[in-house]
This record gives sequence, C-alpha cells and structure tokens, in this order.
Amino acid sequence: MSERLVVIGSQWGDEGKGKITDYFACRADMVVRYQGGNNAGHTVVFDGHKYALQSIPSGIFNPKTVNIMGNGMVINPVSVEAELKRLYEQGITDYQLYISDRAAMVMPWHADLDGAYEAMKAGKLIGTTKKGIGPAYTDKYSRVGLRMGDLLEPEYFAERLRGALEQKNIELRALGLKEYDFDEVYNQYMDIVSRIGHMICDTSDMVNKALESDKKVLFEGAQGMMLCIDHGTYPYVTSSTPSSASVPVGAGVAPKWIDNVIGVAKSYCTRVGEGPFPTELFDQRAHDIRERGHEYGTVTGRPRRVGWFDAVVARYTSRLAGINYWALMLFDVLSGLDKVCICTGYECDGKILETPPSTISRLAKCKPVLIEMEGWNEDVTGARSFDELPEAAKKYVRKIEEVTGVPVGIISVGPDRQQTIIIDEKLKNF
Ligand code: IMP
Repeated sequence: MSERLVVIGSQWGDEGKGKITDYFACRADMVVRYQGGNNAGHTVVFDGHKYALQSIPSGIFNPKTVNIMGNGMVINPVSVEAELKRLYEQGITDYQLYISDRAAMVMPWHADLDGAYEAMKAGKLIGTTKKGIGPAYTDKYSRVGLRMGDLLEPEYFAERLRGALEQKNIELRALGLKEYDFDEVYNQYMDIVSRIGHMICDTSDMVNKALESDKKVLFEGAQGMMLCIDHGTYPYVTSSTPSSASVPVGAGVAPKWIDNVIGVAKSYCTRVGEGPFPTELFDQRAHDIRERGHEYGTVTGRPRRVGWFDAVVARYTSRLAGINYWALMLFDVLSGLDKVCICTGYECDGKILETPPSTISRLAKCKPVLIEMEGWNEDVTGARSFDELPEAAKKYVRKIEEVTGVPVGIISVGPDRQQTIIIDEKLKNF
C-alpha cells in the first residue's frame, strides 16, 4: 500500500465514508476533499461521541493532520464557520484546515435558487439538499461565480460581487425571490474573511509538496458514484463527480498519484431523494433495516430508501473509479434477516443487463435478478476478525467479492472506530 489513498462512495451516498476516512485519517498526514460542498453529511463516532461533518474533511479531529478543502469543492464560508463553531463546542479546538483559493463559493442566493428550481419542477423533484450546490456549480461553469481567493482582495471581490449581483438580482426578481444588497453581502463576507482568511491559500501546492515528500495523503470523496453528474442516474444526481477520477482536477494534482481506491459500500443499499432504485424494498424488511441502520439523512433528516446490495452498480462503479477494495459498511445491520439477497443483473424488456442503462426511464423498468442466501441471527458488533463472523455472513461477503470481482478489504460492524475488521493486511500499512 502506497502513501496515498482515495476513499469514495460507490452507491448513492451515505455509505459510511466518514467512518472509513476517519479510520485512515488517524494515521494520515493530510486529508483532502476534492468535490461537493456542505450537501455531504459524514458522521464520525469515537470515544463515545458523535460528530457530524458537512464540508470539513474528516481529518479535523487529529491535530497533526492537515485538512484541505480543495478547488473542486463549492464552499459556503458561512456554513464552514458554523461547522467549525459546532466542532469547537464539542471540544475540537486544535486543528489544521486550509481552503483552496480557487474553490467556487456558495453564495446566499444559491440556496434560494436551489429551492426555487426544485419548486418549479413540481412532480419531478430531484430532492436536492437545497444547500445551493447545483446553482453554485452552474455559476462556476457559467464563469460568473465568485471564488474563495477573491475574498483576499477586497477591491477585486467588490467588483466580482457587483457583477454577480447585477445578473443574479434580475433572476431573483423574475422568480419573485428576495434580492440581495451589495453592501450587506460585502460587509458580511469581509467580516467572515477577517476570521477565516488565514486558511485560504494555494492548496494544490500544499498537496503536491505532501505527495512529493511521501506523506500519507488521503483523498476523501463526498456523495456516491451513482450521484455522479456524468455517470450517475441523471438527472437525479448531484452536480459534481464523486469518483476518484475527479481527484486530479479537484485537488490540483496529476493523475499519476491516484492508484489506491477504496470503494465504500453499504452491505445493502440506500438512497435519499428521488430517482429509480432497482433493488428497493418496500416491506417490513425495509423498515427494519432503516431503523437498525438509523437510515435518516444527516443533512436533511429525510428517511432513506432501502434496498438489497446491487452488484450491477458495484461492478459499474468499480470499473469507473478503479476500485481496489470494498469497505463493506453497516454489516451488523443485516443480522436478524432470514434471507439476504444480492442483485447480480437487471431484467429489462426481456433482456438481462450487466450494467446500468443511461436513462432513468429504462432504469425504472429494470427488475433486479436476485441471488437469495441464508441470513444470520448472531450479533456481529463485537467481531474483530473475519473468522469471528458467522458462516452465513462469511458466505455473503465471499459472494459479493465473486459477483463484483473486487475483494472486500474492510468490514464495518458498528459505528465506532474499534468496530472495524481489516481483512487485507496491506490496508493496515497506510
Ligand atoms: P444536491 O447535491 O443538493 O444538488 O442534491 C442532488 C441529489 O444528490 C439529491 O438526491 C440529494 O439527496 C443527493 N445528495 C447530495 N449529497 C448527498 C450526500 O452526501 N449523500 C446522499 N445523497 C446526497
């Protein structure tokens, strides 16, 4: 195992990346987020305390770890401050955090527009987190966005802000939304930068120096591959690419540095928001899994939809992101089910598909081809090695490896750092 690792979500988000990233972050010199923003919700539990992270990297709990919010993120400075305040109140007072000067900024009107666009979709909601992520990325690519580094040059920031407001206020007015006053926004952001300005810098330079000097660098993905703007279940996706493939651009490093990728996958599947979900369960089993797995959104509190492990999705995401190992999460939640299933293909219009179709209209027609296996009743939360798992649970893990072609390197049997089985010795060396 080399000195760098990418951890990505391989399903529809909420796979438990926070825990796995935190596990490696304890030993990492640097943790880098490279896409998304405060739409993410990572829960990290250790020493009996629970912490919720949205845009801040999971290495924040280790004072020796340098945390980077990369240029590929969209950053809401108001929410970063609020997040830091919450962490401070929980005793996280000693940390290292740097924010890319090239990262796009989420402005207050982005959340207003996010809500308004959703309302206009009436029956066809995407179910966004309403944090303004889509509108912020849209402005970035329309080249009217503001960037974190702009805040360090007040005159330049004023000029960019004036230009943005001229355009945005026309749109806000047309939609019947509140318009923004230049002085108010300017003063608010100058106030914020007086507190967080020292964190804003050329983070790509920092990451490259760390890589070149063989530091342990962890790249932390947000959301999941099936929410990828290019490869996900479009349009029910987020606005960035959660894949390891977006690390080079989003962190400002060359592709040669990306080789070890852990795909975090729940031992079953969940998704929040709308969109087809072929292995979705609607019966008592969905209810039981949801309650046992506390399957409610960290950011929005919405109940998550629940389904069987989908190997069609797993094969697809491992192909796209070069996944070397699965980290199989929430494995303890499956105890107590009579039978467990794995989806190995989709049946669609009389054909078996090995890979997801490009349109959600076809995906909605897909019926899962399921392998049914014996379940297990034993509580596995105390297991610390693969051998301690019940036979039926071991068979389930081996079947996932067989049908996805990717080894399971880690199994998580509970929320705490300690409740982790590292199967592959190489992973212990990071
Ligand atoms: P947005 O990212 O707020 O634009 O939302 C777009 C879609 O991505 C919605 O279905 C959200 O529920 C989903 N989404 C965004 N972030 C996350 C996440 O961290 N976990 C799970 N779903 C997410």
